[in-house]
Amino acid sequence: MKPKEILVFGATGQIGRHLIRKLTKNNYKVVAVTRNIHQKGYFLKMSANSGYLEIVELKKFDLEKMRSLMKTSSVCINLIGILFEKGHNSFKKIHTDVPNLLSLIAKEEKIDQFIHVSALGIDNAKDSKYAISKVEGENSVKENFKSSVILKPSIVYSVDDNFTTQFFRLLNLLPFMPLYYEGKTKFMPIHVSDMAEIIFKIIEKKITEQTIECVGPEILSFKEIIIKMLNSIDKKRFLFPMPFIFAKISTKIFELMPTPVITTDQLKLLKYDNVITEKNKTNLEIGIRADRKFYDEIEKYSYNWKSGGLYSKNKNPAKK
Ligand SMILES: NC(=O)c1ccc[n+]([C@@H]2O[C@H](COP(=O)([O-])OP(=O)(O)OC[C@H]3O[C@@H](n4cnc5c(N)ncnc54)[C@H](OP(=O)(O)O)[C@@H]3O)[C@@H](O)[C@H]2O)c1
Repeated sequence: MKPKEILVFGATGQIGRHLIRKLTKNNYKVVAVTRNIHQKGYFLKMSANSGYLEIVELKKFDLEKMRSLMKTSSVCINLIGILFEKGHNSFKKIHTDVPNLLSLIAKEEKIDQFIHVSALGIDNAKDSKYAISKVEGENSVKENFKSSVILKPSIVYSVDDNFTTQFFRLLNLLPFMPLYYEGKTKFMPIHVSDMAEIIFKIIEKKITEQTIECVGPEILSFKEIIIKMLNSIDKKRFLFPMPFIFAKISTKIFELMPTPVITTDQLKLLKYDNVITEKNKTNLEIGIRADRKFYDEIEKYSYNWKSGGLYSKNKNPAKK
């Protein structure tokens, strides 16, 4: 049977890499798009058996090239996203204009399924540029491609993420950890394998016309997440609520770094809980479970930051 072609934009990211493995293992042919094939092509190649993955370099959003890629695909998945703005990469361009363009072309080229990954916890965050750009992107996709599927995940985590790995690094280095908004913001972390499973099932079941909130099995506050991470690396740290004025100053300082730990815009977003809203269906309601629990999963890779681990401050505990 000839595998169906699936076009993935943002394929080199955390979700993309896991999704490619899942799809190609299940006999789908994937066309993965990246801006830099030399830097990122090699690890994509390792995700699939030969013949199941084609990697295409697209430095700019070239209309003709995008059109020709869509002509041979039956499913298009948009995973392109940024956490902070840099140079020409504004939130509006990446989260609103790009999905608008992709969904328009997908409609013109009569793609069967258009799956767009947005985010949870953004609908009320009217003071965050990230959130506004994501909501406008969702609206454009729904307008252009009526039978699109919009996925809204809470935090997606794994050994390949920007979240737990970044916090393990900080918890390993610092004797304290400031908590923004007293660490009370709630999340429903979902493991990347569960997220890839949801996208896979949406393709398999040919689901269309839905907005689906993608969540893991637990509701955890930010403080509970940090405590679980500390337990997992056998460390104790002083956790203190950071007054808002200092929080704002700290994000301004972080923004001077090439890859900020947290930005002022993310600080605004952190005010809003990142949990199911009851406005949309959830993965569970459409029959797709996401059962992996946060602590059980981080235990599988946290050893890297434990005493003696690869990224630990103390790589040789016997010597102290
Ligand atoms: N991870 C989470 O916790 C989480 C939570 C909620 C929502 N989401 C959303 O889910 C989607 C995928 O997340 P992820 O964690 O897999 O993201 P990621 O690891 O940060 O990867 C993002 C992808 O976007 C592409 N990209 C970035 N800037 C681009 C640009 N200017 N032009 C073209 N491509 C660009 C990158 O591709 P190249 O560098 O190869 O070109 C990369 O593959 C994103 O929309 C994200 O906002 C993620």
